[in-house]
Amino acid sequence: MTRIVTVPLGDRSYPIYIGAGVLRSGRLAEHIAGSQVAIVTNTVVAPLWLKTLNTVLADSNAKVDVFELPDGEAEKNLSNYEAILDFLIAHKHNRSTTVIALGGGVVGDMAGFAAATYQRGVRFVQIPTTLLAQVDSSVGGKTAVNHPQGKNLIGAFYQPEAVFADTELLATLPAREWRAGIAEVIKYGIIQDCNFFNWLIEHNQALLEMSSDAIIHAVGRSCEIKAEVVAQDEREGGIRAILNYGHTFAHAIEALTGYNTYLHGEAVAIGMVMAADLSWRQGLLTLNDSARIKQAIGTFGLPVVPPALESEAMLNAMGMDKKVLDGRLRLILARSIGDAFVTDAVDQQLLQATLSAGKRLCDD
Ligand code: NAD
Ligand code: GLY
Repeated sequence: MTRIVTVPLGDRSYPIYIGAGVLRSGRLAEHIAGSQVAIVTNTVVAPLWLKTLNTVLADSNAKVDVFELPDGEAEKNLSNYEAILDFLIAHKHNRSTTVIALGGGVVGDMAGFAAATYQRGVRFVQIPTTLLAQVDSSVGGKTAVNHPQGKNLIGAFYQPEAVFADTELLATLPAREWRAGIAEVIKYGIIQDCNFFNWLIEHNQALLEMSSDAIIHAVGRSCEIKAEVVAQDEREGGIRAILNYGHTFAHAIEALTGYNTYLHGEAVAIGMVMAADLSWRQGLLTLNDSARIKQAIGTFGLPVVPPALESEAMLNAMGMDKKVLDGRLRLILARSIGDAFVTDAVDQQLLQATLSAGKRLCDD
């Protein structure tokens, strides 16, 4: 069964097809206009899933060229972005070409930025192959590459024509990547949907065992929530920032641990626990709900305790975060499970207490 979630953006609205086997459903051809296709993938995903995609595209009669990126976040850079553009030019892709991203968030972000800028923008289709990419990065139109000074500093908002979240493609994902993606799924429950949060707790085992029905519901509901938020605030003038719940703490942890200790979703897991702790200290969330968040995240095998980092260093790293507006630190806090909001009314002493509480746990 295919679940279709629409991202409602007027004449740029697009479908997210979710289900086991949606890539082979025959719908991909509907989203390819011209006679050229450029697949952007990477050296890990290509041996696993490129053949499946090529078989699907064989029916479209389009000329298909494949560009393989090296694997890893470090490859999400300007020189590889330029290499994609060089490839499109060398293979004479014209304005009616379709760029297809086959991979995780790194491939999707880079292919999307290339599609946004090649000949001022060509058709773009996302085929996300990680859980994180299916529930987050492939939806909503953020595309980017990193700069040595920071992540995602160069990019564009550019919506795809369609997203094919084929849950069969997740079968080859390493268990650690799978769990890291679950952190982003839990995020949607915390920010917008308490029932979904409770459902995730109830279906913990099914999700860890990668039961197909559970995955489809988890991806489907996550995409619905993301689509609703993006429709309200496509370019993150306000409410879209709630999608970054826990991320300011997470980015600081990732930066201070050299980007080589935690997967992004693992750092987000810790960050969400810290944001819940601060929400409780600020008199918003009950202590019980803050504890429930921590417990739920922990039962998915995700880290919930921050590494031993100096509070001062954390504060500095958080200050560098892009959610700082006009010199004031903006954070996403929760009033209750299912109700997050953006605020710049962060009590510095309470924030300090959250950071110190994390450190004390580790020093003990
Ligand atoms: P990733 O793309 O690096 O993928 C993680 C690992 O899994 C990689 O080694 C990849 O090669 C491998 N992989 C991918 N699919 C696989 C499969 N089916 N089977 C086996 N291995 C597979 O990382 P990610 O977690 O998917 O994405 C992280 C990136 O997404 C970051 O660059 C982040 O900035 C970006 N991001 C973007 C947005 C957005 O809105 N655009 C949102 C969140 C994250
Ligand atoms: N991942 C956050 C956003 O898309 O806005």
